[in-house]
Amino acid sequence: MKALILKINQRRPEESKIARAAEAIKKGGLVVFPTETVYGIGANALSEKACRKIFRAKGRPRDNPLIVHVSGIEMARTVAEVPVVYNNIIRRIWPAPITFIMKARKGLPAAVTAGLGTVAIRMPANKVALALIESSGVPIAAPSANISRRPSATTAQHAIKYFKNSVEVIIDSGRSEFGLESTILDLRTFRILRPGAFTAERIRKAFGRRPVITRETMGLGESADAISPGMKYRHYSPETPLFLFTGKKNRLRRILKGAGGRFAFVGSSELSATIRMPGKYKMVLGSRKRPGKMASNLFDSLIRLDSLGAEFAVVESFGQRGYGLAMMNRIRKASQHRSFRSLPELERLMKGAG
Ligand code: TXA
Ligand code: MG
Repeated sequence: MKALILKINQRRPEESKIARAAEAIKKGGLVVFPTETVYGIGANALSEKACRKIFRAKGRPRDNPLIVHVSGIEMARTVAEVPVVYNNIIRRIWPAPITFIMKARKGLPAAVTAGLGTVAIRMPANKVALALIESSGVPIAAPSANISRRPSATTAQHAIKYFKNSVEVIIDSGRSEFGLESTILDLRTFRILRPGAFTAERIRKAFGRRPVITRETMGLGESADAISPGMKYRHYSPETPLFLFTGKKNRLRRILKGAGGRFAFVGSSELSATIRMPGKYKMVLGSRKRPGKMASNLFDSLIRLDSLGAEFAVVESFGQRGYGLAMMNRIRKASQHRSFRSLPELERLMKGAG
């Protein structure tokens, strides 16, 4: 299968093109579409057969459930039991980059819920995504548009690389606004299962209640009794071995000089300016003064990293406020928890990765 690439205007989606993509969804096919967080690879959420195709295309473990994308709270109610107490709050904040775990209605495909009895629901703040859902007339189940374990697609080009031969349609609407996946909030426990584009601070304001943040939220632990099944799998990993630098910033330059390998760097313009390496090996996310911008460049940098020809890469660590919580969750997983503060520690990691 060769995917049809449809360029669709982010602000004013062309109706005829949306209809063409919706046709593919209605027929049980796969469509890659933009959201404000990352691109998704979608199928009719009410069809077991269609949803199974997603798992095949991504190489995704079968016990990892899918997020169901809806165009409003009424549609959400057809698949989930939306708690009445949260009705008004959800109405107020939707559409937004936040996914809620709720009790699932009976009859949803097992591929969507992984048999958990709950379902992840989100209304994306993206006109193309909403038009596609409306035109399809069904909720759309969609994980991030990446091959399992690889960084999520934040442009259509990333998705084309991953899926050009395994989906019907790929919609190209430019870069994703946030570039990090949605926040996942379990409405039953009020715990953040995955930090994301909707910050913990924003949840607190919207709900008047502080969300629960655990080691898993921070990406520090991969709990075996995975509350969110996706948490137990390796994630976001580039092929280039990536090491997380947690030491004093002003030491990195000397450590890299001592290490001797061909290194690439991923991090802020501020830290980048202090170290010496050929410019093409520097993946600058942006200034520390603009965390949102840095977050939105992270996955693109991790995907491009593999075409640089570096032997190893180091990534900077960030504070956990605001977008920092989501960024550090992704960075810890992408580096597979290999962190260093000193030259001996880095040398040990290099040996282990070699
Ligand atoms: O921003 C996003 O959320 C993107 C766009 C496309 O909407 N989607 C996305 O989906 O990131 P995915 O499949 O890559 O991540 C969904 C996560 C997985 O870790 C999965 O285990 C978890 O949500 N999840 C889904 N259903 C769940 C459920 N019923 N209970 C707990 N976790 C669930
Ligand atoms: Mg994903």
